[in-house]
Order: sequence, then structure tokens, then C-alpha cells
Amino acid sequence: MSDQDKAAKRAHWEEINRAKAAAKQKEQSATEKPEPRAGVAHKQFQAIRGTRDLLPPDTALWNRVEQTADEVFTTFGFGEIRPPIFEPTDLFARSIGEETDVVSKEMYSFLDAPDVSYLEDARDAVKDVNPGIGAEGKHDVFELYVYNFISEVEKSLASRQLNLPSKAQSDFDVLKASYQELLALPDSKDEESNNKRRLLSFEIIIKTDLLRFGDFVTLRPEATASVCRAYIEHNMQQLPQPVKLYYMGPMFRRERPQKGRYRQFYQIGAEILGGPDAPAIDAELIEMLMTFFDKCGLQGTELSINSIGHAADNCRRGYVAKLKGELEKVKDKLGADSQRRIETNPLRVLDSKLEHEQAIIATLPRIADHLCDECKAHYAAVKHELELRGVIYRENWRLVRGLDYYMRTTFEITAQGLGSQNAVCGGGRYDGLVELLGGPPTKGIGFAIGEDRLILSLQESGKGAAPQGRDVYIAWMGERAYATAIRAAKDLRNAGFRVELPPTELKFGKALERASKLGARFALILGDNEVADGQWTLKTLADGSQQKLTEQALLEYLRGL
Ligand code: HAM
Repeated sequence: MSDQDKAAKRAHWEEINRAKAAAKQKEQSATEKPEPRAGVAHKQFQAIRGTRDLLPPDTALWNRVEQTADEVFTTFGFGEIRPPIFEPTDLFARSIGEETDVVSKEMYSFLDAPDVSYLEDARDAVKDVNPGIGAEGKHDVFELYVYNFISEVEKSLASRQLNLPSKAQSDFDVLKASYQELLALPDSKDEESNNKRRLLSFEIIIKTDLLRFGDFVTLRPEATASVCRAYIEHNMQQLPQPVKLYYMGPMFRRERPQKGRYRQFYQIGAEILGGPDAPAIDAELIEMLMTFFDKCGLQGTELSINSIGHAADNCRRGYVAKLKGELEKVKDKLGADSQRRIETNPLRVLDSKLEHEQAIIATLPRIADHLCDECKAHYAAVKHELELRGVIYRENWRLVRGLDYYMRTTFEITAQGLGSQNAVCGGGRYDGLVELLGGPPTKGIGFAIGEDRLILSLQESGKGAAPQGRDVYIAWMGERAYATAIRAAKDLRNAGFRVELPPTELKFGKALERASKLGARFALILGDNEVADGQWTLKTLADGSQQKLTEQALLEYLRGL
């Protein structure tokens, strides 16, 4: 080889090495994290407090539970409803009750504001004209702009382009009244008129500036109100009664997060609307619930029941008045929360978990002794119907529930392994709620299961999901084997097996290592030999044994396991 040839060859190799080094560098920098830009601290995002990601393998258990609910509830004649995640704030305020913890403290509400840019010019005009203190001339302009703004808003309201949340409605009324007062002021420029004019102008400017348009909406804290709203909206009273609906999905409450208590949590619930209030309906609903828990394998369940009567002087109202009287007498010995509840919702004092209040609560009058005859008979019949169904229950006179819509039957179920948040389900009768929401008089009863707690309890008692393994890992080498591997993966998946097909070629040793890390039961080894003679190698990873099988025999073997 001449020197010239040698130099050319050297140059050629140097060229190749440079290209290789550049490729390696590129590969490396692609896997490196980008340098933070100067002055920009990289923030790591985390799920918001009280919310969390549900991940495999746990999600397999969530799916199993939801599928069980679907199967059990269907056998009792229920159909699924999927209401929206957000609803008008008023829907929850009216049904759950303004004074309840849920409505007064825990709802995620926001103004769903429309685009009102077409109104902003009119608003700005009012804000920009300063009528001044007794300034000559400017008042006419100011009044004109206010008139213009008010009439633009009214036009938009009339054409339903715009809505006013209830607070804004009163702001708007004040604005209009101030404007009328301003117009009615005498022309004189004495100090008193000027002061009045200045005050009214100031009020008008503030109200104009603050006026908010749109609707207040709330991320649902529960779904009973939504189901009742849907019952009315879709005229379900015209269907054969009662209508039986179930739902599952996320709910939102701004509570203090702890084990089993989240800000986004999941409920599986069921509601029976319409038809009679026969005690058998209450009992069958509870029977369904216990059947579901049983099918899920939930351990240590305890069902508590009570009747809280109905809102009448000879029933709950009379009892609450008496309870309030007794609570007043011991007020000084109660904690701040209970003291407040004597005024807002005396029944909720019975719910208290405070250690030092327990002895006092034990001496309070009990609702069972104050039920009217009808409610008493209904409660007795519910217990009898439960016994007919073999449902074991415990009576708990303090079970009043935290939402205002309940009457007569209330119930709760606790399960083991949950600590202080051990109520895994709550429910009760709510005749009258549909009517309260503008529908016809309608009976109603339902429950909601805290799915997060149900899952926690199942996991604590060892009923959690197994890690998500694979049935078959396909270890392939060579281009011909790859084509066969793709086909094998498709056929095995169609037959219902969980298959992992590595996207790049791996040495057999490496492939087997990955297969066992993924928890695969079998490795299907496909190399040139297997493809050539149609005999595939199946390795059982637990014991390392191998067998040769045709494609058809492999499928039959796996199916027969
Ligand atoms: P609730 O008692 O407010 O009733 O909730 C039912 C269940 O949801 C509770 O027993 C609990 O398991 C679960 N739960 C409530 N809040 C949380 C939270 N922050 N984190 C985790 N789980 C929670 C209702 O919601 C009624 N709508 C039930 C109903 C339906 N009544 C008649 N129909």
C-alpha cells in the first residue's frame, strides 16, 4: 500500500471515528436533563394536597371493585347514571343545607364567568369619568354612561346572553337604585346636595367595577343532589317507578386530609327515586349493599341503623327543640364546635367524637322516644324487613348523618383497618328532596360508599391486587424472528394473554432477565432455528424448564393452564 493510500485510509477511519463520537455525544445529551435556564428554578410539580394518583397495580383492584358494583347492582334492577362533575352551587346549598360543614366550609366553588368584553367599554366609561365634587357639566356625561351600562346589562340579561350570580343580582339592584336616586336629586349646588351626589357617584362607580357576571358552580361534593336534579330534568317520574340508579366517580370536599380522607375522593352510590316508601325498599337497598361488600371480600363490616323521623312538631322538630333545651343546660361543658351547633344544627352534637363530651351525650334525650307513630311503625318495619333478609344490624340512636336532606331511615357501615375514618358507607331516606328542588313529591333513599376507604380496608386485610405481571415475554433475535414475534404477540393477545414484546433486539440472556423482572410466567424464545423448523421454545421462568411447541400447540398449552 502506497503512503498516499495509507493516508487516505487513515483519513477515512478518522472520519468514521469522528462521526461515531458525535453520535455518542448526541445520544448522551438526549438523556441528560436540560440545564435550567439562568434565573429559572425548575419546579417539580406534585399532586395537590388531598389529591393523589391511583396507580397500577392498585388500579386493578379499583377496577375489580367497580365491576363488582356494576354486577351486583344490575341484579337488583339498577341502571348507571353519569351526572356532570360540576353543578350550580345553589343545587348543593339547597339540598345538602347551608349550615352543614360540606356547604359552609368544604365546597370547591368558582365563578363560571362568560366573556363580557362587549360590556367592558361601557363599564370603563363609567369608571373613567370622574364626576368630581360638584364639578360643572361632568354629571350629565356620568349619568349618560351609567344609563348606558345599566341598559347594556339589562339587554344581555333579557336575551339570556348573561347571567348574574345571586350576590351580583343584589349589587346590580343597588346600582340601579343609586342611579335613580342620583337622577332624583335637585339641581341645586348646595353642599348637602353635592355631598349626596358625590356619595351616590362613588357607590355607583364601586358597584359598576365589582359587578360580576356568570354563574357560581361547584365541583360536586356528593351526587345525590345531582341524581335528583337529573330525575326532574329528564321527567323520570313518567317512567315505571321507582327509578333505580347507581353512579361512581370523583367527589370533592375541602377537608383536612388524613388516612382515608381526601379532597378528591371516590364514591360508588345508588339512589331509589319514586314509588312508595315501603320499608322493604329500605331493607332491600341495605341488603344489596351488604351483598356487594361481601362479594368484594370486605372484612369486619358493621351496619348501624337509626330513624331520625320527619320534620314535624310531633316528631323530629319536637325532639330537636327538646334536645336544644337540654344542650343549653350543659353548654359550658361542651367544646366550641358543639356550642356552635346548639344554634345551627343541634342534632349534629350527637355526632361528636370528642372524648370529654361522650358522657354528657349519653344523658341526652333519644330520638327513638320522640318519633311520631308513623315514623315509629316505619322504623320497626325496616328492622323486621332486614331480619327477613338475614341482614345483621346494630341500632345507633346517635346516627344522625351530616346532610340536611335525611328523614326516617339513616344507616352507616364501618369496616376494619381504617382508623378514625372508618365509615365506609353512609346513606338514608330523603323523601321530599326532589320536591325541594322543584320536582313533584317523590320518595327517595340511597347510599354512597367511600371507594378509597373500601380499597384501603381490602388492602389492609390482604385482599389487594397482585402486582401486574405478564403471561408471556417474547425473547426474539434476528429479523425473521422479529416478524414471527409480532405475529405471535398479536395472536396471544387476541387470545387474552398479557404479552410483552421488547421493541428492540436483546441478547437472550438480557431478555430473560427483563422477563423475570416483569414477573412474566413464560418466555417465548424465538430465534432463527425456531422460525426455520416451526418449533417454538417456551421457557417456564419459575423452574427454568423448556419445551418445544408448534404455534397451535403453544396456544392450546397456555389456554389449558
Ligand atoms: P356521606 O356520608 O357524606 O354521604 O359520604 C358517604 C361516604 O363517602 C362516607 O361514608 C365516606 O366513606 C366517603 N367520604 C366522604 N367524604 C370523604 C372524604 N373526604 N374522603 C374519603 N371518603 C369520603 C353522602 O355523600 C350521601 N350523598 C350519601 C347518600 C346517597 N345518601 C343518600 N343517597
